[in-house]
Amino acid sequence: MPNVVVIGAQWGDEGKGRIVDLISEKVDIVVRYQGGNNAGHTIVIGEEKVVLHHLPSGILRDGKISVIGNGVVIDPKVLIQEINELTQAGYTADETNLRISDRAHIIMPYHRAIDLARESTNGKGKIGTTGRGIGPVYEDKAARRGVKFSDLINPEALSERLKNVLEERNSYLTKVLGGEPIEFDDIFSEYSRYGQELKRYACDVSNLLNKSMANGKNILFEGAQGALLDIDFGTYPYVTSSSSGSGGASPGTGVSPTSIDTVLGIAKAYTTRVGEGPFPTEILGELGEKLREAGGEYGATTGRPRRCGWFDAFALRYAAQINGISSIALTKLDVLSGFEKINVCVGYKYRGDELSSFPSSSHILDEIEPIYEEMDGWQEDISNAKDISELPEQARKYLEKLEDLTGVSIYTVSLGPSREKIIFLNNLFS
Ligand code: GDP
Ligand code: IMO
Ligand code: MG
Repeated sequence: MPNVVVIGAQWGDEGKGRIVDLISEKVDIVVRYQGGNNAGHTIVIGEEKVVLHHLPSGILRDGKISVIGNGVVIDPKVLIQEINELTQAGYTADETNLRISDRAHIIMPYHRAIDLARESTNGKGKIGTTGRGIGPVYEDKAARRGVKFSDLINPEALSERLKNVLEERNSYLTKVLGGEPIEFDDIFSEYSRYGQELKRYACDVSNLLNKSMANGKNILFEGAQGALLDIDFGTYPYVTSSSSGSGGASPGTGVSPTSIDTVLGIAKAYTTRVGEGPFPTEILGELGEKLREAGGEYGATTGRPRRCGWFDAFALRYAAQINGISSIALTKLDVLSGFEKINVCVGYKYRGDELSSFPSSSHILDEIEPIYEEMDGWQEDISNAKDISELPEQARKYLEKLEDLTGVSIYTVSLGPSREKIIFLNNLFS
């Protein structure tokens, strides 16, 4: 049984939650390695829908260990609320199955305030963030003025850390961004209370994972966001502030890259993106609306309408190369039923020339003319198909085309949000 990294292969919201939930049945440990509560991972079990922001998507399975790695940034209030909600819904999320790295960084109120103030004053330069303080907390981590989980759970350390950083952060918040200062007394008591509540989950995650592997346990590393939102390889600056590709799994958990066996990319049968930034295959107007409504494309975290477009095989090939994606779980094929024609982007043209690689500049990306191959659609409802042979011929041709263009084989095709609406094409775990 391999150790597998599961990542989004597009701009996030590909259906990572539902695929991680599915595969977690076969693994011992599920660990999140980057991002924070900017993520919204949806799992549908029967009539019930759970959206996870901080907790790994293996938490709904009995007997699995769920881990939040050091690369994750945690909003303690949101995490406590998430744990409480799950417990009330009858799931186990306590010290028997949940561990949190004491090295993870904490999202503080000034991080959220800075994020929101920048987004409201930035005009055209706005990123369209989730407003959760993600950029500012990773900035503080890199600037060596962050508050770690080990500080949060130790009042003395928390007090010292806050005294060191608050003055500087408040000065930036008030003088540069015109915001309100954050008072030490207000946050110290609140955050030390959160620390005491979460203390029981604190763990040396690297040690836990390495020992577990030595004992024959296997691990699923759950990415948040997607390959094209990666801080290095995404459509910068319209990205998130962490390494959301497969490469982030190692520094985000303290497990060596040589321990990771395979990378599964999750991709929608079309493309969506939330927030600002280039999106070469975006469909504007009525057809885009149709896709949004058919796919229920509204953010699981912020409720914002997602921008919708055709499948971008050129971008996916790039994501596959950078991240070593060896198989794809394709989601939401059911949503494409009822489209007379379906386009697939096979290449990019920039000022008349066809590009040989994915551009690094968002200015170039803004001017890209996608090269499309048009395919016939299918009209049938495919959501009840149990086998690939039950899909209409055009849908099967579409899958073959995506495999051809991306150079990656399709592991599963999902046809609805719930657990059973999935067809297996290959065996990732043989
Ligand atoms: P994540 O962030 O990658 O976990 O994805 P989100 O949860 O943000 O968004 C995916 C949405 O698509 C959720 O509402 C899922 O319930 C839904 N979904 C996942 N797979 C399928 C599928 O195969 N068909 C349909 N119709 N919906 C799906
Ligand atoms: P999951 O894990 C889709 C986007 C935001 C914005 C950019 C930066 O559910 O796929 P941030 O708040 O991270 O500073 O915002 O990244 N973004 C996501 N888009 N899915 C996500 O997570 C996202 N997390 C962040 O919309 O464009
Ligand atoms: Mg999501």
